[in-house]
Amino acid sequence: MCGIIGYAGHRPAVPLLIEGLRRLEYRGYDSAGVAYIEAGALRLLRAEGKLGELEKKINGRDVTMATTGIGHTRWATHGVPVERNAHPHKDNSGRLALIHNGIIENYQERKNELLELGYTFASETDTEVLVNLIAEGVKETGSILRAMSWAFARVEGAYAVALVSPDEPGVVYAARKSSPLVFGQGVGENFVASDIPAFLPYTREVAFLEDGELVRLDANSWQVFDAATLEPVDKPLHHITWDVQSAQKGGYKHFMLKEIFEQPRVVADCLAGRVDLRAGRVRLPELDGLEPPRRLTIVACGTSYHAGLWGAALIESWARIPVRVEIASEFRYRDLLLDGDDVVLAVSQSGETADTLAGMRRARELGARVLGLCNVVGSTVSREAERVVYTQAGPEISVASTKAMCSQLTVLYLLALYWGAAKGTLPAEVAARALTGVHGLPQVIEAELPRMRERACELARKYASVRSFMYLGRGQSFPLALEGALKLKEISYIHAEGYASGEMKHGPIALIEPDFPTFALALRDPLFPKVKSNLEEVQARDGRIVALTHPGLDLAVDDPWIIPEVWGPLNAFLALPCLQLFAYEMADYLGKDVDQPRNLAKSVTVE
Ligand code: AGP
Repeated sequence: MCGIIGYAGHRPAVPLLIEGLRRLEYRGYDSAGVAYIEAGALRLLRAEGKLGELEKKINGRDVTMATTGIGHTRWATHGVPVERNAHPHKDNSGRLALIHNGIIENYQERKNELLELGYTFASETDTEVLVNLIAEGVKETGSILRAMSWAFARVEGAYAVALVSPDEPGVVYAARKSSPLVFGQGVGENFVASDIPAFLPYTREVAFLEDGELVRLDANSWQVFDAATLEPVDKPLHHITWDVQSAQKGGYKHFMLKEIFEQPRVVADCLAGRVDLRAGRVRLPELDGLEPPRRLTIVACGTSYHAGLWGAALIESWARIPVRVEIASEFRYRDLLLDGDDVVLAVSQSGETADTLAGMRRARELGARVLGLCNVVGSTVSREAERVVYTQAGPEISVASTKAMCSQLTVLYLLALYWGAAKGTLPAEVAARALTGVHGLPQVIEAELPRMRERACELARKYASVRSFMYLGRGQSFPLALEGALKLKEISYIHAEGYASGEMKHGPIALIEPDFPTFALALRDPLFPKVKSNLEEVQARDGRIVALTHPGLDLAVDDPWIIPEVWGPLNAFLALPCLQLFAYEMADYLGKDVDQPRNLAKSVTVE
């Protein structure tokens, strides 16, 4: 998830682009750049790090002449966040400059073809491949517009792009497929960006580009085309009433809520280029050439630890690899038994959590191989791990982790399939169900989220006066119960305990009373009868119960929360947003600062 902006008008473009990028920094902030046309020449400036670094490069230069340009703030997916990988990227002839948000899945194939044609590449990015492919298209078709259409017909994946060229000064081309792109109509100026905040101070008249659309704009005109046929497309303009702050939240009240609703896209981005339905297999090139682990230890903290617990059961079941999951702050100080036969997988959203890093370093000292599962390209975990698999969740602004956990579950699911296939322990019919099931998941989650939020609102209001909640789950639902309890604790400050249902009779059941309700995960799986009897023990002590459950299950509780059923382990992807939304609605109803809870930091980098 990066931020892109394009401008053609009467104002100095560079300062306007920089301001627009500042309002898009919530989409990515590890490097940035601009390209602009000045006196018929294509100028490009890029810098590693936050926007301030780019501004330092611009300061002292007279950039006031240029009134056309594009700008990009990056959230790395391909290639570490250094200047050579920052956008914009030029083609080999230096006549085109391109910025891109998204992932070109078949970029390696196209790159190999372009290398055959004599093209050279200065970065590891898929974007540099795309701009050179467009350049090849210009040779083939004779125009930039036709070249973009030609190139898009040859790439798979998600993109929102913008392009400028000194061969058409004053013009910006932009196009989208899956990644967001909006056009803004001004007076004597026009804009394009990945999100409305970028140009909101200048215009509130916007047109939303759909997948497969391409726009050509200059200071006084704009035209949208179907990118495949280049047929003109009429687009209605919409008047936007939001202020910049809520626009950055996409109209949501909090980043946490926005990030919960981003989860369908996050699953899709995590699957992009990794699920080959035709071949019936998972592709994880990051791990190619590495033997599946003989013994696996997952090390993490907080929400990432809960994701690890969930993934461990799948890896054991599908890949028949013994897995233990360790809380990093304990693991790092233990007298560990690890050696070269051990693989340690560090799971971390930020990639900067001190305890997880210390666990990794300890494991490496003892000779174990160390892998990373991380959301931030270029973070310490990703740099210190021997191999790293990225969770494509995009920047997570809210302290309470939501979409990052969803992305961790998705990648752990793929890892279990990948190692299961490599070891030949995964039955073909299970692999087939697992792949088709996860491929269709984003649409199912998307369709259910609004209904889930409604039910979460109702239940949060009903239980807002309680001071404690017990979360119960069994099997694959146990880690989810832990996560539900953590979410409620960290943003609503209500005491919450996450427990394996079977553990209740060994002590915690003593806590049960009407004012200490239970949130149970009672989904259709082989352990449902066990969960049901545990809940009967709770009811026997007048405990009130909210239960996430599936249609048609025989379960009599105070507040059933019925969610649609999908295949096996994928049910977790529908249960998780319910747990997140319940905590969110409770915290919001109680007037808490949801995005910045007290006493908590987004990344715990201290001991
Ligand atoms: C979760 O909502 C919390 N922010 C916290 O528990 C977090 O999961 C933990 O600090 C681990 O962070 P990491 O994934 O960035 O390593």
